[in-house]
Amino acid sequence: MNPPKPFPILCLLFLAIEEVFKALDPIEIINFSIISKRTKGIAKQMSFFPKYSMGLFINETLDIMFCGTGDMVSWFYAMTSDIKMDGKIEEDESDGCIIRRVFKYSKDPVEEWKQLFKHVREIFKKQTIDVLRITVDSFLGQNVSIIEYLKVNMKSVDLCYLFQTNYINNVDKHTAYLLDNIKIISELTHYLYTENYDFDGKIPKNLQHLCIYNSQWFGFERLLIHDETKEISGGIDIRKIDGKTATFFVHYTGFSMSVH
Ligand SMILES: *[C@@H]1O[C@H](CO)[C@@H](O)[C@H](O)[C@H]1NC(C)=O
Ligand SMILES: *[C@@H]1O[C@H](CO)[C@@H](O)[C@H](O)[C@H]1NC(C)=O
Ligand SMILES: *[C@@H]1O[C@H](CO)[C@@H](O)[C@H](O)[C@H]1NC(C)=O
Repeated sequence: MNPPKPFPILCLLFLAIEEVFKALDPIEIINFSIISKRTKGIAKQMSFFPKYSMGLFINETLDIMFCGTGDMVSWFYAMTSDIKMDGKIEEDESDGCIIRRVFKYSKDPVEEWKQLFKHVREIFKKQTIDVLRITVDSFLGQNVSIIEYLKVNMKSVDLCYLFQTNYINNVDKHTAYLLDNIKIISELTHYLYTENYDFDGKIPKNLQHLCIYNSQWFGFERLLIHDETKEISGGIDIRKIDGKTATFFVHYTGFSMSVH
């Protein structure tokens, strides 16, 4: 039996190619775009990509995440150093949303993820990232290089979530370095066990939501430097420079702030 005839997508007219692309998911688009210079060039011309929001998730693997507006599926392209996972596809469901994760093995996952993200950012024309979720004590040896890379390759991140796996690891310096180098626009949620009272990381200004757990180290003065404050029941109100009000709630595990 003859092998199936390949579909000559590159011979189609541009509008027809675009229709074919609309039927592809982001992982298929990436796979197509890395075949050759020509396929990359074609992928770059597609106009409908802005509908995807994009995230970077760093934990045991380094993932690039896509989420379409409207459809309840998110796709993860995960770089792993575990060869047994190569080519595996995991499917999960969370809050009615389907999560599809494709694994790719690499001897040097950090390096390959960096290259892939650069490529993807170019194809999907993204200057900013919607979500950054980092377990700061994963890839410890490459902590600085990952942050420097992010600093150069994305303008800002909208939502940022910081985690830590092992409370024994001191991540104070790492976290301060991250906060100094990455611009966070609307939300920072922080689950780290920072305990160093000298922690001198900069907390981003103008956030709509700030949530810090395990925050024994955290001096309120750090937040109060620029604003007018008064205590109200159930929280501390801060009138921000832009006229909005932020309310702080102190919990036994930490505190949170929301702007309204
Ligand atoms: C990181 O990966 C570990 C192991 O798979 C998992 O237990 C943990 O929940 C993950 N952390 C985050 C923040 O996703
Ligand atoms: C895309 O490429 C990855 C990595 O090579 C592979 O595991 C996956 O099966 C491919 N996915 C599709 C939908 O072609
Ligand atoms: C990077 O991680 C190492 C531990 O592997 C730590 O000693 C160092 O302080 C960290 N540096 C920064 C800037 O995060």
